[in-house]
Amino acid sequence: MKHIILILILSLAQAASEPANVKAGEIGATAQNSHIAYGGRLFDMWYEEVETDFEPDNPETPLADGSGGPNGDGTLNNAAGSPILNSGHSYRLKNLFGWDLRGDAGIYGHNYQAKEFILSLGPLSPQYAGMTRAQWIQRLTTGEGNLPAYGDVLNQAQIEALVDYMLAIRDRKLPYPDDLYALSVDSPKGFVLAPGGDATAGHKFYQEQCAECHGEDAANIIFDNGEQTLGMHARYYGYAIAMITLVGEPGSDMGPQISANLSVTEQTKKLLDLLAALCDRTRYPRGNATDPDVPDNDPRCGTYLR
Ligand code: HEC
Repeated sequence: MKHIILILILSLAQAASEPANVKAGEIGATAQNSHIAYGGRLFDMWYEEVETDFEPDNPETPLADGSGGPNGDGTLNNAAGSPILNSGHSYRLKNLFGWDLRGDAGIYGHNYQAKEFILSLGPLSPQYAGMTRAQWIQRLTTGEGNLPAYGDVLNQAQIEALVDYMLAIRDRKLPYPDDLYALSVDSPKGFVLAPGGDATAGHKFYQEQCAECHGEDAANIIFDNGEQTLGMHARYYGYAIAMITLVGEPGSDMGPQISANLSVTEQTKKLLDLLAALCDRTRYPRGNATDPDVPDNDPRCGTYLR
């Protein structure tokens, strides 16, 4: 209880001093950590985090029929100023680069989830290894190939936050994808969680940090249209749950959940512990969700599956 009150006081104090990018529940964050976490939420779904009327063009229909953005119809433009239609990416960078920032070589690429909208390269691609912060800011601002010109909808500070998040992962200042999961062509959704997580420590962390909102059994909030509990979501999409836990959920009351005072190794361990714990189908069940749970021997959780 003391802990919770302390967190509340800290978040109130932060909320007073830093308006835009500090979220409830954020712990021990410096301004730089909040900036990077904000960038992570923009990477996930920028139009949930900024003041905008942008609603992406519906990918199911041939015409541009969204709202907002430079063309007023829910599209963004390419570097030449022509609209890029929404082919399902909905202009989210997590879709264009993939959660693991590797473009087509990564989890959304042709070998794994085969998303048709994935860009060929991302910030973690070896081909882009030498690209500087200034170059990435330039690219995101003006667009490049099928990468939209975000400068039409985001300001300089927001683009900097986005780039600083992506480069923090690339430069291993945040947990690195390979330390959280391995890509696997034999696994649904193309991943298997990395070994080394301690489910007992993860249950404890879950109860301290998440249960208040998501419930003791992680079934209080059911995502999408009632399809999945948090436990199921972690078993289906552990790679995404790790990053959302790290930076917070765009447009919600949920801020970053991992103390920024921890080293990257400790942060990675916390995430793995948590994911290992959430692989327990009895402790974090399906509840009233409509999707089926993962079956016995599903490879995604590896040996953590209970
Ligand atoms: C302050 C309350 C709060 C706390 C604490 C909290 N969450 Fe959340 N969380 C939410 C809310 C609200 C949402 C948004 C629900 C929605 O979109 O319907 C959310 C969404 C999420 C999502 C996104 C699911 C999706 O739609 O993709 C994940 C993953 C998640 N939480 C994990 C966690 C984990 C893990 C913890 C603990 C480490 C945690 N949350 C702590 C309130 C909280």
